[in-house]
Amino acid sequence: MNTEVPYASVAWSGDTLGALTILDQTLLPLQEVQLELRNVESVHEAIVALRVRGAPAIGITAAYGVVVALQDSIRHRASTPDAAHAALQACDYLATSRPTAVNLFWALDRMRRTVSGNPSVASAVELGNLLLRQARLIHDEDRKMCHAIGEYGASLLSDGFGVLTHCNTGGLATSEYGTALAAIFTAHRSGKKIHVYADETRPLLQGARLTMWELQRYGVPSTLICDSMAAQVMREGKIQAVIVGADRITARGDTANKIGTYGVAIAAHHHRIPFYVAAPTSTFDVTITSGDEIPIEQRKPEEITHGFGRRTAPEGISVYNPAFDVTPAEYITAIVTERGIIHPLEEGRIRRMVVAESS
Ligand code: MRU
Repeated sequence: MNTEVPYASVAWSGDTLGALTILDQTLLPLQEVQLELRNVESVHEAIVALRVRGAPAIGITAAYGVVVALQDSIRHRASTPDAAHAALQACDYLATSRPTAVNLFWALDRMRRTVSGNPSVASAVELGNLLLRQARLIHDEDRKMCHAIGEYGASLLSDGFGVLTHCNTGGLATSEYGTALAAIFTAHRSGKKIHVYADETRPLLQGARLTMWELQRYGVPSTLICDSMAAQVMREGKIQAVIVGADRITARGDTANKIGTYGVAIAAHHHRIPFYVAAPTSTFDVTITSGDEIPIEQRKPEEITHGFGRRTAPEGISVYNPAFDVTPAEYITAIVTERGIIHPLEEGRIRRMVVAESS
């Protein structure tokens, strides 16, 4: 197997009139297709349709999406107030794409502040340059965060461990390398013999389609299981640690992540297996304390009744399809961030780690 072949979930080439491309994740693992997103509507559609997905990756894409939205103003030499208005409108519009991952709003807030913090820019071009610089900064910071999370996370995974993960948290879900998967890649690179069990992650199979694709590229020994097998695999003694990503973490550590994560956490708790969450500080929302306050995205019934095409349930039935669930902090052993490991989970400790340096 050809290991460590680079792939980019999101890329920007050129100046402000350059191109935003994504790797269309809906087509993986069968096809690797780069998609150029030429207008803000296609950026919005790509996020809604999960062509680009994973909390950090959608934040980065949306940030570049604001630059895409400004390209017409730049080409038509719009007045500065008109250009600023277009950029702010794009931020509002892109914020309607997906509700749960806070990285989207975090990135768009930074883009908004770039507009409002520079009221005296001379032209649409100058505003575009500032916005592109901010988007690139968000992208670069995420790269560094992922590698730091990888190092901290790997310290929790010992030689000989079986490690279970849910959904996809690798380079596809971030700028590169990932969060929970970065910990696994780093442990593997350092020579630790670990074996990964990846939940397939119903209904959209991010685990089967994306995580297994990434693990194979990095040459990490791994086994795909159905979500419903996780508890049994734990019972058989195959799992010594669980590590997952996050879409939003509250001030006390309650964590929203892909639907099914909560059940995995309960099973891990029952089997006394440590349950780790790995996420950059951009995934924390310390404006809320309880996980009940996290907005949970509801997705189309067809994702369940027509998994990837063919109907798999009778017509006219009722379907419930929340894309995320919330794992209460009490089931989380530790949270791995780019600034270090938070353990035990206490609100003061979380706030000190997350807020102190970013304010
Ligand atoms: O609906 P998705 O595929 O965007 O959900 C992604 C997840 O739940 C990931 O686990 C999370 O965003 C962490 S990505 C590093």
